Amino acid sequence: MELIKNWTDALRYQPYCQWDKQYQKLLTETVNHSKWRQNYHIQAESGLLNDPNGFSYFNGQWHLFYQIYPMGPVHGVKSWYHVSSDNLVDWQPEGFALLPDMSYDSHGVYSGSGIVIEDELILAYTGNVRDQDWQRTSYQMLAAMNKQGEITKEDKPFISAPPKGYTHEFRDPQVFKYQEQYWLLIGAQTDQLEGKVLAYAGDTLEKLEFKGELHFTDQSMGFMVECPNLVFIEETPVLLFCPQGLDQEALDYQNIYPNTYIVAESFDTETLTLTQPTALKNLDEGFDVYATQAFNAPDGRALAVSWVGMPETAYPSDHEGWAHCLSIVKELKLKNGHLYQTPIKEQVELRQEQTALAGELTSQPAVLMQATNNCYEVILKFTAGSQGKLHLFADHELNLSLVIDFDTKNGMIKVDRTNAGSPFAQEYGTTRSVSIEKNQPLTLQLFVDQSVCELFINGGQQVATARIFPGEGEDGLVIEGAAGSYAGDFWRLRSMKND
Ligand code: FRU
Repeated sequence: MELIKNWTDALRYQPYCQWDKQYQKLLTETVNHSKWRQNYHIQAESGLLNDPNGFSYFNGQWHLFYQIYPMGPVHGVKSWYHVSSDNLVDWQPEGFALLPDMSYDSHGVYSGSGIVIEDELILAYTGNVRDQDWQRTSYQMLAAMNKQGEITKEDKPFISAPPKGYTHEFRDPQVFKYQEQYWLLIGAQTDQLEGKVLAYAGDTLEKLEFKGELHFTDQSMGFMVECPNLVFIEETPVLLFCPQGLDQEALDYQNIYPNTYIVAESFDTETLTLTQPTALKNLDEGFDVYATQAFNAPDGRALAVSWVGMPETAYPSDHEGWAHCLSIVKELKLKNGHLYQTPIKEQVELRQEQTALAGELTSQPAVLMQATNNCYEVILKFTAGSQGKLHLFADHELNLSLVIDFDTKNGMIKVDRTNAGSPFAQEYGTTRSVSIEKNQPLTLQLFVDQSVCELFINGGQQVATARIFPGEGEDGLVIEGAAGSYAGDFWRLRSMKND
């Protein structure tokens, strides 16, 4: 028996229970043998993981769900999988939460959000249905999780169809409370095939009324907007969303679809306007972030987690029966109107043995750490005027590595995966450039975990995330340069505890 290579629609939508047990065993064994499995990032046991869903705090614990197709590295019939945590870094598997088991979600329990109402965690999701001609119908559905962790789906949609003038590309409800009312934002498409975000409001989730389109830009948002997500950072509204088919004139991006955001002054509920919106920006400057979900936690923080993966893009781990992971949890902050994303304070719990690092940047490459095991955090502070290259996932000869090329004189960072591990997604470019303030000191904080690297620049002013699929022995951390010096720390990180 071999892993399936030619996925047909019939296979992708075959109910899980019809899958042969022997095949599932082979799949799990193949996944478990992968050298790219991560130690502290959330990943699916097998198959494909995509969007984070229902990120919330309920009954004294953090809850997170994700989109999963467990039978292979493809977008098949989706479910929600549940993980829970006491500290936002160690996540326990809780099993499948919402399965595609009713007529309103027969072809997938699609993305959505969670909100605590009284003593339940209410989950809002999109039921995806296809007819014989493969035409899509979307239903907005609710489910409730009680304090025992039991989940019950409601048997009828709470929004049964898109409003007149919009297609069934209508999904990813975000529910939240704002000024004593329940609000729902949802990704939509007009009959003229324009991407929009629609708003609903009401006194209860069951009695939501369609209010209209949310206004947050004058530009065209492409043909569809996925995963709209409004969070408030100290009262300031920040809208995260994923426009598909966005004109590259409107935003400089290279990924197939960008994950973008705007910061506004206020949310005017009368006119459905996010007032004084900033220009559209990339949430992540790297290669692999999409469908980020954030929520306002009861402790006052705005917490976010991203899908580290791209739609419609092949990844090397596909051959091993699995694809993608979630990012670490990031805290969103605003400083002078700019969005910062920082690793949460709890992230330090993973730190193990520490090594101090310091030196001059010279053209002779210096090995900072030979065998990192690709499971570490490193923070490096560079003096103003520094120019150099940090190599991660480096082989002995420095022929292969993920290169972080920094030039503080010209205010530029380039993340280059041209010669890093197994090549993939080259059609979307193999470098990403980030502008930084010129002639200033620079801080880089990196989280590396087997096949993923999350880079936080200058305390989270910018973030760049990249998947890398290194070969045997490609785990060196090396630095070289032309000018300046550095000082910092390296920590080996422990694995996530998940039992
Ligand atoms: C975004 C997305 C959502 C949809 C989900 C299906 O990645 O396409 O719009 O709900 O994935 O898995």
